[in-house]
Amino acid sequence: RVPIWLDCDPGHDDAFAILLAATHPRLNLLGISTVHGNSSLQKVTNNALSLLTAYGCPDVPVFPGARKPFMRPAVHAPDIHGKTGIDGTDLLPTPVSAAQTKNAAEAMRDAIMATRRGTCALVVTGTMTNAALLFAAFPETAEHIRCLSIMGGGFSVGNITPVSEFNIYCDPESASSIFTLPALNDKILMIPLDLTHQVLATPRVRTTILTDAPTPFRQMLHDLLMFFAGTYARVFGMTDGPPLHDPLAVAAVIAEELSLEFDWEEGSVEVVLAGGEMGRTLLKPVGAASENAHEGRAVIGDEVRPRGVRVRVGRGVDVARFWEVMVEAIGRADSV
Ligand code: BDR
Ligand code: CA
Repeated sequence: RVPIWLDCDPGHDDAFAILLAATHPRLNLLGISTVHGNSSLQKVTNNALSLLTAYGCPDVPVFPGARKPFMRPAVHAPDIHGKTGIDGTDLLPTPVSAAQTKNAAEAMRDAIMATRRGTCALVVTGTMTNAALLFAAFPETAEHIRCLSIMGGGFSVGNITPVSEFNIYCDPESASSIFTLPALNDKILMIPLDLTHQVLATPRVRTTILTDAPTPFRQMLHDLLMFFAGTYARVFGMTDGPPLHDPLAVAAVIAEELSLEFDWEEGSVEVVLAGGEMGRTLLKPVGAASENAHEGRAVIGDEVRPRGVRVRVGRGVDVARFWEVMVEAIGRADSV
């Protein structure tokens, strides 16, 4: 089984990322860290605990991480995820376990370093604050992991501004520090909005999840998708169904084992840190700024910045197979 750590901000779509990470037989979920994002740290942590209880996995430890970015105030998304971060159902259980008290970055370091070198996947489906802190405080973890799979960014579409995606916009400095960290060269998988907007929880998908004789568990997941569908229709006019962003970043880690085909494009990613396009991600050919580069840094305008590392960006995925994988995961958790 592939050891995996999930850093998230649940979140309707994070809920499905947790489901896949916690229940798939080819994954060994070592722990979850939570981060400010869709709602406050306290709320997203409680959501993670409640979801793990619902999934029959209350033993997965949950570590609260950063409540805000280093350099700016936190931004939340009540218009998309409601006040709690996972509004829309009264079927969520009270958590049977409590959050851990150990520092999240230390917990991530200890869990990652206890795995065999080059095997552990770190998946980030929220803002990048925890991950940036982890790599800054414990650089050995970046060398040690097999991959870092990120849901974030967008190249032809935004969701928090016309050009920026929420996870990157909330903490662009942390995102930028990750996309320029030399130890992560060739290790980052990026799942941008351009890809997640191909994977919609359509009415047909939602009916498949509910089945003819829904259990309370299936009803709960269906409620969550209905709420998410409602906000996406209202806020973005997306009436075919909401994109289920986050579980794609988990699935990408075991794509081969799942027989799930992705199309990847290689490039380096630059994050706009200020101005009207703050949080925008730009995909550049690897080494694009190399004629100006010196000592691993690139000159962008007047600014000297570290150079972007090589990233694999998801461009396409076998959507039908992805939903099969999700529906199987729901069936497994439903029968626990
Ligand atoms: C991302 O932002 C959050 O609202 C979702 O959970 C997802 O991680 C999509 O932009
Ligand atoms: Ca998320």
